[in-house]
Amino acid sequence: MTDALPASNGRGPLHRPSDDVPRQYPWPVPFGWYQVAWTDELAPGEVKPLHYFGRHLVLWREETGEARLNDAFCPHLGAHLGHGGKVSGSLLVCPFHGWEFDAEGRNCRIPYSEKVNKTASTRAYPMRDVNGLLMAWYHPFDEKPLWEIPALDEFAGDPDWTEPVARDFVIKAAWQELAENSVDSAHFHFVHHTDVVPELESYEYGFPTQRMRSKQRFPTPQGVVDGRIDVDTVGPGFGVTRFSGIVDTALMGCNTPINAHTCHLRFTFSVKRLGDDAGTSTVGRAFVNEVTNQVIEDIPIWENKAFVPRPALADTDGPYMKFRKWASQFYAEGVDDGVDYFVPPPPDPRKPIEVVELGRTSAARHRSV
Ligand code: FES
Ligand SMILES: [Fe+2]
Repeated sequence: MTDALPASNGRGPLHRPSDDVPRQYPWPVPFGWYQVAWTDELAPGEVKPLHYFGRHLVLWREETGEARLNDAFCPHLGAHLGHGGKVSGSLLVCPFHGWEFDAEGRNCRIPYSEKVNKTASTRAYPMRDVNGLLMAWYHPFDEKPLWEIPALDEFAGDPDWTEPVARDFVIKAAWQELAENSVDSAHFHFVHHTDVVPELESYEYGFPTQRMRSKQRFPTPQGVVDGRIDVDTVGPGFGVTRFSGIVDTALMGCNTPINAHTCHLRFTFSVKRLGDDAGTSTVGRAFVNEVTNQVIEDIPIWENKAFVPRPALADTDGPYMKFRKWASQFYAEGVDDGVDYFVPPPPDPRKPIEVVELGRTSAARHRSV
């Protein structure tokens, strides 16, 4: 008598539950700098629970102003520091028994003991406050940052540029699926119904950067205007797209993995002033809405598609394979591309088909241009 399952039930390979759940993606969470908040969302002394990189996190700001990010669970008995934790000066205080932790996550005071617990610590993530964004460095093996995020003139308070305008979306797809959109010129016509598609002039990549230069013709009531779309990406979590032609616009796109199959995409726009505020506002708002609507149009494709490691491409398709080589540099845990299709989970037959609200843009983010 043995407990081992038979290799076959006589009708083909034995059907184990795990066979029903194919891997949706070949990728783990890539390493890099990721936006975890806008700077103005976190006041001195404030504490917030977050969940990114497949981890429970606590975001907090010292009373003197530095923003911090740590793993959420207290090493004493596991309280979530983001739910009821408080800031005292430059320390984070656990809500359960009052232990205090510094920016490095080290225990530095136990209120009912003379000693600290030197082994008690919670992982600290390097943070930067740049371009009005709070960026955190994630690496699965806790390696130190390998690059920095550049400070951009358009987001430095120059009065020639408008106050930033923000939009965000939670999307049930992996980081790389969204990022690949940037090299996909053919989909503009079919998904976004644009008459003219960007014409790629050059695509170059290194580590951690990616650089794309494109020409774009914009049809207007006054005729066609020649414009440009120039994209500079720095690692998986930060890119700036500069649009010119009708109105100069800078767009920071920050795509933060919530886990390996869901991400939080944040856009921050600034528009170069046209001379009259009303005109800037009208043109700027139309532009922001157009880009936002394009994401909303992309979402059903991203959320339902398979990932095809060896795609069947047209000779005029964009530089997908170069893009994928660039992206592959950020997976410290390796990539599994041993199957032909990575597919989404099957729909649950007990549930009616879910009608997903496309794009989540919180009311607080509707600041006027
Ligand atoms: S669980 Fe945090 S102090 Fe006890
Ligand atoms: Fe798109």
